[in-house]
Amino acid sequence: MTGTGNEQARKTAEGLAYSSGFGNEHSSEAVPGALPVGRNSPQRAPLGLYAEQLSGSAFTEPRRHNRRSWLYRIRPSAAHPPFLRANRGEIRSAPFTECLPDPNRLRWNPLPEPADPTDFVDGLWTLGGNGDATQRAGMAVHLYHANASMDRRVFSDADGELLIVPERGGLLLRTEFGLLRAEPGHVALIPRGVRFRVELLDATARGYVCENYGRPFELPDLGPIGANGLANARDFLAPTAAYEDVDGPVEVLNKFGGNLWTATYDHSPLDVVAWHGNHVPYVYDLRRFNVIGSISYDHPDPSIFTVLTSPSDTPGLAGVDFVVFAPRWLVGEDTFRPPYFHRNVMTEYMGLIEGAYDAKAEGFVPGGGSLHNMMSAHGPDRETFERASAAELAPQKIDNGLAFMFETRWPLTLTAQARDAGHLQRGYDDVWQGLQRHFRP
Ligand SMILES: [Fe+2]
Repeated sequence: MTGTGNEQARKTAEGLAYSSGFGNEHSSEAVPGALPVGRNSPQRAPLGLYAEQLSGSAFTEPRRHNRRSWLYRIRPSAAHPPFLRANRGEIRSAPFTECLPDPNRLRWNPLPEPADPTDFVDGLWTLGGNGDATQRAGMAVHLYHANASMDRRVFSDADGELLIVPERGGLLLRTEFGLLRAEPGHVALIPRGVRFRVELLDATARGYVCENYGRPFELPDLGPIGANGLANARDFLAPTAAYEDVDGPVEVLNKFGGNLWTATYDHSPLDVVAWHGNHVPYVYDLRRFNVIGSISYDHPDPSIFTVLTSPSDTPGLAGVDFVVFAPRWLVGEDTFRPPYFHRNVMTEYMGLIEGAYDAKAEGFVPGGGSLHNMMSAHGPDRETFERASAAELAPQKIDNGLAFMFETRWPLTLTAQARDAGHLQRGYDDVWQGLQRHFRP
């Protein structure tokens, strides 16, 4: 396997190769000469390959939003049998109509371990979401808990892109574009429609998935921050081409219109020998995030921690943001340093990858999650409030945790399985009990 990314290619000890740069036109060939030069669709593609375009935007969207890749593959994707409805397990999809939108603050423990051999797709469990997958608006929160690799099956999602946030156990993602390795602390971004298979690098794998039905994630504008900071484009790694030339039955699962559909191909569709384009999967190490904050007083809104944003038609109003609370220094003078009490027009789903989060003393655990729906009041618990209000304000490093947030403009409606889950914590409201009255007129 060789790679020729247009950015510097990086070989890892595992033989994975990447090219760097979010949104760039990447290119790669697994066999020298497989990538046509100077045209996308020559009369005869090199090496007897088929040329195929995969569009991630309408053809005519502005250049800044335009996404497509050209794939050079052993067989064209069009050569496949009919898709039939498949059991969707615990995957649910927008519109979410099983429950009423709920203003209560909710928190869950980690998803229980599966009893039987369960791969990534079978291990997906939908917590809730908003919007309408058929209208390409909104998002869903899924969790996964798997103990087996996908075997002779691949998955793709026509409803949206998938932001995979491993919390426990590494994942090897075999995609049409090549291999990505995503460990806890990394995120992987699989664009709409891209086929992939998940193999486990450890005995079990657990984590979170944001399914974004809306406009694809992009890096946020930086405004007065300038040209550098937050997530740097060069730290997003796209794979280099690696293909499977495999005959025999392979199940292809397609999430389409909220349901799972299945077809059994007579070959692996991960048969792309060369490709170029900007509709590509990525992996990103959250520890590369350049955290920016106050060096005087107060702290900025958590939008300063935005890694990726899915813009809406209203400037500054995201369909969904992906936000990370990474290790950072707190130095604000005369400042209540933990996240402040607030009520937000946006809806916040938070998860924890490792360690602890500086607004909660306990109960918010790795693999768990909390939901603070639109306008729900939340903030530090009593213990955190009292500690932070009395603390001696020396420079302080927050370095014992990695938390994240999927923040969305619409209320998030639960699935019935999330509402009724045994791992839903009862009495989450209690963390804000005992906040004493201190008012002395
Ligand atoms: Fe919040």
